[in-house]
Amino acid sequence: MQTGQAGSAPKRTSLHGHWSSRMAFILAVTGSAVGLGNIWKFPYIAGQNGGGAFVIVYLICVVAIGMPVMMSEILIGRRGRRNPVATMELLGKEEGHSGNWRFVGLMGVIAGILILSYYSVIAGWTLGYVVKSATGSFSGASAAVIGKQFGDFVGDWKIVGFCHTLFMGITIAVVARGVERGLEQAVRFMVPALLLLMLALLGYSLNSGYFGAGLEFMFTPDFDKLTWDSVLAAMGQAFFSLSLGMGAIMAYGAYLPEETSITGASTAVVAADTFIAILAGLVIFPLVFANGLDPADGPGLVFDTLPLAFGQMTGGAFFSTIFFVLLAFAAWTSAIGLMEPAVAWTVEHFNRTRSQAAIIVGGSIWALGLGSVLSFNVLSEFTFMRGTIFDNFDFLTSNILLPLGGLFIAIFAGWVMCRNSTADELGGAGPTYKLWRFLARFVAPIGILFVFLKAIGLLDYIIGLVQ
Ligand code: TRP
Repeated sequence: MQTGQAGSAPKRTSLHGHWSSRMAFILAVTGSAVGLGNIWKFPYIAGQNGGGAFVIVYLICVVAIGMPVMMSEILIGRRGRRNPVATMELLGKEEGHSGNWRFVGLMGVIAGILILSYYSVIAGWTLGYVVKSATGSFSGASAAVIGKQFGDFVGDWKIVGFCHTLFMGITIAVVARGVERGLEQAVRFMVPALLLLMLALLGYSLNSGYFGAGLEFMFTPDFDKLTWDSVLAAMGQAFFSLSLGMGAIMAYGAYLPEETSITGASTAVVAADTFIAILAGLVIFPLVFANGLDPADGPGLVFDTLPLAFGQMTGGAFFSTIFFVLLAFAAWTSAIGLMEPAVAWTVEHFNRTRSQAAIIVGGSIWALGLGSVLSFNVLSEFTFMRGTIFDNFDFLTSNILLPLGGLFIAIFAGWVMCRNSTADELGGAGPTYKLWRFLARFVAPIGILFVFLKAIGLLDYIIGLVQ
């Protein structure tokens, strides 16, 4: 399988410029990783899947699968220095394999488009909640009132559609200008500020009298409740939260300076992302229990719990406004990453300017997103397979396309690329390299396949046939 290719890095340069420093890269990847996935999605998915056992499986997936796949994406990206489609094709051929690996890149482009279409709708909700917070809608309101406000809000397709349009507009604007300007600055300020506010909220949860209940829910595993579907959800969430499996990190890796340590950068990003997700859970679940809410509430969970806490604080309207602004920022820096593979590909493949590409890609995503806008109101009864249009887009991307993309990326870095090439990118064949290679070659691919086959019941079917 390995064709003794020369391992010294071919010196290529990216057509889209480079990150100004190692820190800029870490900030950009952190900005893409930290987003609605951590604060909106992680708590509600954990809640729907019973808490503790889900969280443990999630953490195992992050370390055993997420970490090696992240390193793989960055090293592939940096070696190819093109958009993910072209990079996979180029490296596939260079390593003496097939150019058809480009289809993995193409699948990533599609996954990014599908994710952003509904991600923008939820990001739009946070924009709406900025306005609600600033106008004091939550002051002293009860859980019932806040729940009703959420229902009324998402029930109005005109407002939600407007917020979705606004969010896609600002995302297109940044992507059109290029990644370096603006984005770096936003992340530099946004991630620390968000962290501070979350810590302040943690103080509130600690004093809610239900911190113990929240802690117990999140960390006491009841493996009897864990189904293979929840394991799949945990694995999907690990990919989603770390922005993996769709070439986004590969695209960012293409702009990474030669000398930066990929292992170091990956560790920093994975740690930050996981810390913020756990923190979000520790803030939200005590509030859920203190107010008699249901942890399995679903996508509205954050919007039903946090305003409640803010509504009872002095200066709550102020902090609530800041919080939703920061969350919108976090979503914004992620949205940019979600668009990057499609935009870089459109620029290189169809010879478009960055602005044209941003408008074409962004406009299509906006249109696709209307399905998710309507999933919570007009079309809420229109369900098939996994539920509404929103539910299906989410399931298809998080639980299928991202893990599948991750599977191929791990196989590519672990088996298709020769040892010389990967060791060259990862700074030599030391113990860390060996560990990475073991995880990328065996643990990640087998783990992903196993969970897939278990979740769709195929494995049991095959075992049944054999017996
Ligand atoms: N990680 C982002 C979040 O947690 C969402 C996301 C998934 C993403 N895939 C991505 C962001 C790719 C950027 C690029 O909110």
